[in-house]
Amino acid sequence: MLEIEDLSKVYPTGTEALKKVSLTVDTPQVVTIIGPSGAGKSTLIRCINRLIEPTSGRVFLDGTNVVILGRRELRKVRRRIGMIFQEFNLVERLTVMENLLSGRLGYVGFWRTYRRKFPRADVVAAFRLLDRVGLAGYQNTRADALSGGQRQRVGISRALMQQPDLLLVDEPTASLDPKTSRQIMRLLVELAHERGTPALVNIHDVGLAQSFADRIIGLAEGKIVFDGTPRQVTAQVLTRIYGEEDWSTTIRKVDENGEADTKKGSSKRKDTLDEEAATG
Ligand SMILES: Nc1ncnc2c1ncn2[C@@H]1O[C@H](COP(=O)(O)OP(=O)(O)OP(=O)(O)O)[C@@H](O)[C@H]1O
Ligand SMILES: [Mg+2]
Repeated sequence: MLEIEDLSKVYPTGTEALKKVSLTVDTPQVVTIIGPSGAGKSTLIRCINRLIEPTSGRVFLDGTNVVILGRRELRKVRRRIGMIFQEFNLVERLTVMENLLSGRLGYVGFWRTYRRKFPRADVVAAFRLLDRVGLAGYQNTRADALSGGQRQRVGISRALMQQPDLLLVDEPTASLDPKTSRQIMRLLVELAHERGTPALVNIHDVGLAQSFADRIIGLAEGKIVFDGTPRQVTAQVLTRIYGEEDWSTTIRKVDENGEADTKKGSSKRKDTLDEEAATG
């Protein structure tokens, strides 16, 4: 699984974005990373597959230290890591199916890629995924004709086409409305659990993190200041992560059955039914 040891990043500007961060994810859990803007969340996620080069430290993925790999080896490891971004990163003028199959590009020979011919097994896997994420029938729709929620479903499917050993997700819901955000988070977490794939998810919305994560990490000024379960996120913890504020409306109450619910009183059951009835 994933082991991060003493990971530091100093940008050329002198900003210390990560200060000796250590973190282990040894079960297939969904870990959300919360923290104020500039805390280093994106830097942390991007250092893991070296989209950003760490300054020092080690990142082990199933025992391999990613930080010291040469280009060819790094490319192999990157294929085992699925990335999902806020801005979706789809190829606008390509269809949904073409975007999904491009998730497999690493595996397909140059000529096949060039002529856009893909192995049958990949096409079958892509149809199955589209069905699973609620986009059956959309395979020939161009990416630029989709809504935000639909685009993120494509983004998630494309990352899963790689059959990754790890998912890195940076603000998957930042440009989506609250309801679509919940649907996307739920889908992401369900898929990660179904496939036994650990996921690291940066997210600003504390309520969403508490609703869907197995574990929450609080990052502030490049350091981990909290690591625990959603139930352990108290007003005190949020103050440690974000600073002094009235957190009473942000935090989710946890009842004696261990079920989290918001203070705003929306019944969890109704919420779930609503969301199942709609596809964003
Ligand atoms: N390319 C860069 N060059 C210099 N400094 C950078 C660069 N990228 C990020 N930083 C700085 O590093 C720190 C951490 O940035 P990072 O983007 O990781 O934060 P974040 O927690 O993801 O914030 P946000 O919630 O706004 O996305 C910030 O101080 C930021 O200004
Ligand atoms: Mg960020």
